[in-house]
Amino acid sequence: MYNYLIMNIISFEKLDSTNTYCKLNLDKLADKTVVSTSLQIAGRGRFERSWIDLGCENIYMSIVLKLSENFSETYSNLTQYMSVILCVQLEEIGLKPQIKWPNDVLLNDKKVCGILAEAVFKGQKLNGIVLGIGVNLNAKIEQVSQIDRPATSVNLELGREVDKAEFMQKLLDKFFLDYDEFLGNGFISIKDDYVKRASFLNQDLNIGIFNKVQSGFANGVDDKGALVLVDSEGKEHIINMGEII
Ligand code: BTN
Repeated sequence: MYNYLIMNIISFEKLDSTNTYCKLNLDKLADKTVVSTSLQIAGRGRFERSWIDLGCENIYMSIVLKLSENFSETYSNLTQYMSVILCVQLEEIGLKPQIKWPNDVLLNDKKVCGILAEAVFKGQKLNGIVLGIGVNLNAKIEQVSQIDRPATSVNLELGREVDKAEFMQKLLDKFFLDYDEFLGNGFISIKDDYVKRASFLNQDLNIGIFNKVQSGFANGVDDKGALVLVDSEGKEHIINMGEII
């Protein structure tokens, strides 16, 4: 019997996007509220991409995180924190996930999850963060093969369906269990756990940063979660944003 931690989860049958809902209603939603939906008709991803709905047995949810003393230092690493937590959850059910910088979780080199953190401002002041996560949990092979990048689903890798309610609750329990420690200490508190699952180190990479590309050898991840790239002239570049292309 699994003992659930108590947290505030609001479930919808249909939403445009859980992130959009949380952003629009941030003032009314308490810290650590989780909003999930069975059907997400206008899911959003990084770089203005859309996140496709693969059916109601997959996860579409967002967590509302309000500010605390340590928040501004660490909020840019929240997506990396979530990627590590998801890996731990996937390992618990027998899978071997890897992380592609900064926060994609892969199974057999294919993306299984997307994480999108959005800051909400009131005037100049940061009012909170909405941390959205979409997990392909029980998708059909025909659906994932329609995605324009290599993608998979937990059930396809595992060879069986996964109980969505249990998976989601365990993921959230793990997230909140170490959340205060993460806020207090930042990326350094998860660095070892992140690096040991990294799929991108010690190889040549191209990083897309807006419409520029930076190439180099991935030497490591620094204590703030940035990618350390060394270019062909031996110059070090600390990359804080962008994606591996
Ligand atoms: C990515 O581009 O990889 C991030 C995708 C994030 C998708 C999730 S699904 C739940 C939440 N609501 C959204 O509209 N997006 C995030």
